[in-house]
Amino acid sequence: MQENAHAPNMAAGSVDHGGRTEMVMATNLALGGKRAGKVRDVYDLPAPAGECPRILVVATDRISAFDVVLPSAIARKGQLLTQISLRWFERIRQWKIISDHLIATDPELVPGISASDRAMLRGRCMICRRVNIVPIECVVRGWLTGSGYAEYKKNGGVCGVALPAGLKQWDRLPAPIFTPSSKAQTGHDENISFQQACAAVGEGVMQRLRETSVAIYKEASELCAQRGLILADTKFEFGFALDGQGNATNELVLADEVLTPDSSRYWIAATVGTGKEPQSLDKQFVRNWLLAQEAAGLWNRCPPGPELPPDVIAKTIERYEQAAAMLSQ
Ligand SMILES: Nc1ncnc2c1ncn2[C@@H]1O[C@H](COP(=O)(O)OP(=O)(O)OP(=O)(O)O)[C@@H](O)[C@H]1O
Ligand SMILES: [Mg+2]
Repeated sequence: MQENAHAPNMAAGSVDHGGRTEMVMATNLALGGKRAGKVRDVYDLPAPAGECPRILVVATDRISAFDVVLPSAIARKGQLLTQISLRWFERIRQWKIISDHLIATDPELVPGISASDRAMLRGRCMICRRVNIVPIECVVRGWLTGSGYAEYKKNGGVCGVALPAGLKQWDRLPAPIFTPSSKAQTGHDENISFQQACAAVGEGVMQRLRETSVAIYKEASELCAQRGLILADTKFEFGFALDGQGNATNELVLADEVLTPDSSRYWIAATVGTGKEPQSLDKQFVRNWLLAQEAAGLWNRCPPGPELPPDVIAKTIERYEQAAAMLSQ
């Protein structure tokens, strides 16, 4: 995550005539410690005396693909991501797999900001415990596609996990696999082996993260299957909770967003197994459009990305809406 990484070319939230914020590309709240990720803006919040440090996580309508933030906003995406994450945090708590960073969602609890900023935050913010993020993206794959498939074609496995020969793209794997990647400060995250992840953050930590990630993936995939969806793969982030003095504890906590169409691949189950690309309810539609731009020599995966045409924006938000509708009840 970089300081103000997305300042250029980005208008702040635009407000429609009814005073409702429609689209948020960047935020500029009267709070300290702003960090801009690719999609979320994060601020420091004051915490009650003796309690752990707090942050405000704001999901904007930015979209990134191939690790590049695109110049177009997908209006309402931030609210949908937040709604989907909140429902999954609730389920993961019920399953008693791991605790998470969420404290509250009410913008009225954010001190010192204007009424219009509060209106902008409604539905797209989370007040969270600040944690020490473990700098490993915890990816679980149940199906073969994306960078996993690219790696499998080259060396018959993914992140050092050997797989049976003869698998095709969009095939189900014999069992879900844990395929970590490094969380790059800038540029592209890189797939790494479990051993490399252990060397970076410790074997005991990685074992806990692998077990937890696979457990959440399995429960979530079952729930998705009941709703006609396949959770092809997903990525989690974890951190160590801090105590009232801001010192790291041994408590691992699920952080960031969880099981959203930005961090996961959701396929419509009825379209899987045909040998053709499944219909997805995530940003694959945007990736495919970008790949066509690349094939036409119009983009080289470097920033700035191209503006998305209105029909690509409309079809993308439709997919996120459908995912939210299928996952939120
Ligand atoms: N509870 C938390 N405490 C501290 N940091 C958090 C917490 N939850 C999420 N984060 C961090 O906030 C940022 C969220 O922003 P976003 O998801 O847009 O970033 P990203 O572009 O995916 O991340 P990065 O730029 O670090 O790769 C991430 O860097 C994430 O690690
Ligand atoms: Mg993220």
